[in-house]
Amino acid sequence: MSRTASRSGERGALGVFDSGIGGLTVVRHLRRLLPGKAIVYFGDSARVPYGTKSDSTVRRFADEAVSFLTQFDVGRVVVACNTVSAVAMRSLAKRFPALPIEGVIEPGAEAAVRATRAGRIGVIGTRGTIASGAYERAIQAAAKRAGVRTRVFTQACPLLVPLAEEGLENSAAARAMLRHYLEPLQRKKIDTLILGCTHYPPFRRSLAKILGPRVRLIDSGEATARRLARALGGEARSGRGSLRCYVSDIPLQFEAIGKRFLGQRLGRARLVAQDDLPWFERRPGRDR
Ligand code: DGL
Repeated sequence: MSRTASRSGERGALGVFDSGIGGLTVVRHLRRLLPGKAIVYFGDSARVPYGTKSDSTVRRFADEAVSFLTQFDVGRVVVACNTVSAVAMRSLAKRFPALPIEGVIEPGAEAAVRATRAGRIGVIGTRGTIASGAYERAIQAAAKRAGVRTRVFTQACPLLVPLAEEGLENSAAARAMLRHYLEPLQRKKIDTLILGCTHYPPFRRSLAKILGPRVRLIDSGEATARRLARALGGEARSGRGSLRCYVSDIPLQFEAIGKRFLGQRLGRARLVAQDDLPWFERRPGRDR
């Protein structure tokens, strides 16, 4: 396996992991804010979506993905996927105690607490992310640290992921779905909305149109990249880094859709053989 050298002060490349293509919306900001960093990305395109799966399944997939990334001498891993960040951070920290691993929930929550004026924060995400309650907990913790009061209102938006992948984020169908999903949050008079899913930044323009200028939009991926850029800084802030992508299925599809999410040309994505994931050798679990 090739080794990727980083030009930042920190040893090793930055590993980025997502359930599929969506994490490229996070890489977009990482590349902008840490252009000197070497990034190794893994998208689990064979098993996406994670947002509809059980917590224990997502944890197992996350374990396998981070194990895969450790082959590349990564000095740190960013979990770009909100669903994984919502349910698997503790199990990942236990499994990889020597590797700094950060998710997108806390940075998104902190940015929202900084942005809100009335303390009424909405969160949209996958079913898994919303059911986990992770954003509520992170927002309440950030609000406590900041000494402010907040109320959190959440809404799962499962149909937005396929709409974004199909490039339909500005379509009439997307606007109808957004109105449907946002209506309960608008009734709660939110003044800040966290885009708690890798696939939601493409809807930013439509969201702003529906919600109006009074509601601030927080992109958790961007907040994560900003926090990392502050923490790493140094040489990684300039220079020419690299992006190498691995996927578990159909690299061509990843390349075609990924270009839109990344906002620039995407090099060749490499296919990871799946014979290292022997699900059929696992004992039947008790989870329902
Ligand atoms: N990457 C996922 C997230 O941010 C969205 C796609 C999926 O459901 O796997 O939650």
